[in-house]
Amino acid sequence: MRRFLIAGNWKMHLVRAEGMELVDAILEGSVGMPADRELLVIPSFTLLHTIAERIGKRALGLGAQDLHWEASGAYTSGVSAAMLRDAGCEWVLVGHSERRDHFGDSGEVLGRKLRAALAALLRPIYCVGEHLEEREQGRTHELLDRQFHDVLDGLAPAEMQRVVLAYEPVWAIGTGRTATPEIAQETHGFLRSLVASAYGQGVAAETRILYGGSVKPENASELLGQPDVDGALIGGASLMAESFLGIAQAGGQHTSGAQKRTGKT
Ligand code: 13P
Repeated sequence: MRRFLIAGNWKMHLVRAEGMELVDAILEGSVGMPADRELLVIPSFTLLHTIAERIGKRALGLGAQDLHWEASGAYTSGVSAAMLRDAGCEWVLVGHSERRDHFGDSGEVLGRKLRAALAALLRPIYCVGEHLEEREQGRTHELLDRQFHDVLDGLAPAEMQRVVLAYEPVWAIGTGRTATPEIAQETHGFLRSLVASAYGQGVAAETRILYGGSVKPENASELLGQPDVDGALIGGASLMAESFLGIAQAGGQHTSGAQKRTGKT
């Protein structure tokens, strides 16, 4: 059974005192969270050490928003996978659309980043998603297929099992325009079929696929209720403990797609 993963991407927000206040409130509010969900915060690089110390041994994951593909070297501003591990991270985002669109991360670069993350035993959350124009032109599947294969082809099945996918339609990010549950389910189902073709049904059934794009407590239950939606990658609403925890508590008991389809819960 796939556990929900509820991840808060803080993007370029919050200085240290604000980050500590938020993580304290999340830690306090997440006591007694149902066992079928896992929570994760993804602060900026400068907050990682502090937040890791604050979390200590408690049940809240920590991830970074990006990494460099080389292990070390003359790459001013680069942050390596080993540095992220050293700062207390277990997770890292790869391929967020803001990296692709504002920093020019290509499929080739993202493939190297993903492999660097895996080599350092970080768990990558690989983000894919189409722009509005691509959806309107009926090119969503073509684009997702490319984003998937450009970066994920050629992994060992055991490596793919450590990758989480995130579907983040760019037109839904920070716009208040959430994908409908039907769009989310259809697209997640398509992504799962890509995993199945490349890595087999077993890996596909285990792979978690998160939805991201204007997730809020009010729409989380419907989105998380879709059989192939295994969690959320949250931007704006993750900056307040109340809305982040509200999303984390939504969705009721998670049953994986396979179980839902066969009616076994
Ligand atoms: P919003 O939740 O602010 O739309 O951001 C989504 C996102 O980009 C998370 O990575």
